[in-house]
Amino acid sequence: MFEVLKSLPPDPILQLMQAFREDSRPDKVDLGIGVYKDDAGNTPIMAAVHEAERRLLEGEITKSYVGPAGSAGFNSAMAELILGVNSPLIQSGRTAVVQTPGGCGALRMGAEFLRLCKPDTTVWVSTPTWANHLPLLGGAGLTIREYPYLNPQTLQVDFDAMLETLERAEAGDVVLLHGCCHNPSGADLSLPQWKDVASLIQRKGLLPFVDMAYQGLGEGLEPDAAGLRHLAGEVPEMLIAASCSKNFGLYRERTGALVLVSGTATINSAATSQLLSIIRSHYSMPPAHGAAIVETVLGDDGLRARWQDELTGMCERILHLRHAFAEALAPVGDFDFIARQRGMFSFMGISPAQVNRLREEYGIYMLGSSRVNVAGLNDRVLPAVADALRDVLR
Ligand SMILES: Cc1ncc(COP(=O)(O)O)c(C=O)c1O
Repeated sequence: MFEVLKSLPPDPILQLMQAFREDSRPDKVDLGIGVYKDDAGNTPIMAAVHEAERRLLEGEITKSYVGPAGSAGFNSAMAELILGVNSPLIQSGRTAVVQTPGGCGALRMGAEFLRLCKPDTTVWVSTPTWANHLPLLGGAGLTIREYPYLNPQTLQVDFDAMLETLERAEAGDVVLLHGCCHNPSGADLSLPQWKDVASLIQRKGLLPFVDMAYQGLGEGLEPDAAGLRHLAGEVPEMLIAASCSKNFGLYRERTGALVLVSGTATINSAATSQLLSIIRSHYSMPPAHGAAIVETVLGDDGLRARWQDELTGMCERILHLRHAFAEALAPVGDFDFIARQRGMFSFMGISPAQVNRLREEYGIYMLGSSRVNVAGLNDRVLPAVADALRDVLR
């Protein structure tokens, strides 16, 4: 039976990773892979995470099943992290949180849930968006449509075009929004723009699905969630997919959460029972370890403070690099947008041929779309990267 299958072309990101690994030049620079890197180019385990793991190892007494919703302690800690400690939504019983295998698991379970509610659901995604949104949502059977988001000339949000297109969405359509640190562009909505989007969504009866994969890496844990929280306060129903991969550095532990906001507590209770049944039929229950780490960190004042300090350090490092990079590129053109954007990613706005030249001549690796991971820079390599860019742009 398997002989009917044809090989898929290799994944371009994995190919890029392999080419980087095989490049023997000592001064090569990886700006391609979307993971946080420290000054030495490593993706370290956070100290608070290490300490939580040590405590867990000492205190763990069972490996028995956890259930489809995962850990209740993790879920309530995530609700507060995302919606805010004093969120009236949490008190109202209109929200439910389930632990998922990463942000991807949350996106997919959210999509399966939407299909159960309405089999012909249309979801509007930004152009551009994170490439994996398409298979995660489309693979669940949702119809994907696109709204313009980034102006390719200015590399800034084309807000008028976004609103104009969303005006054409129909009641019951879903709008996927990036909570902060838009991937791949780094161009985020301002709070007033979030407010305009919230009114449009409310007026037209659309359903927001917010992907929150980088909370704490834009401007901080609270400001990064401000748009999402405003929206949650305005609309009757909403979905949020959160990831702990980046802000806790738990990538391979597959830790995330899906938040469901319903019109009433009664509706929420029925909806949650359906969501749990969907989870049961896909992977039964989520892996425990990463969520236990997050629960331990968020539940202990000392560890939480240490984690917040480390996260602030990561966020500030990225902001510093954004400013230094924009400044180093000032003689070649207007790259100020890099300093204004948030999170790990920005487009350089250069052609695939220029991207290739950077890789071949200088050992500087970025995605073919010219998306760079700013966290892959550091003060030592930055002048050389800026010089190489100047050269290919000349
Ligand atoms: C925009 C976006 N959403 C979701 C995710 C999901 O991350 P994970 O499944 O690793 O938690 C990522 C990871 O790169 C992302 O960039």
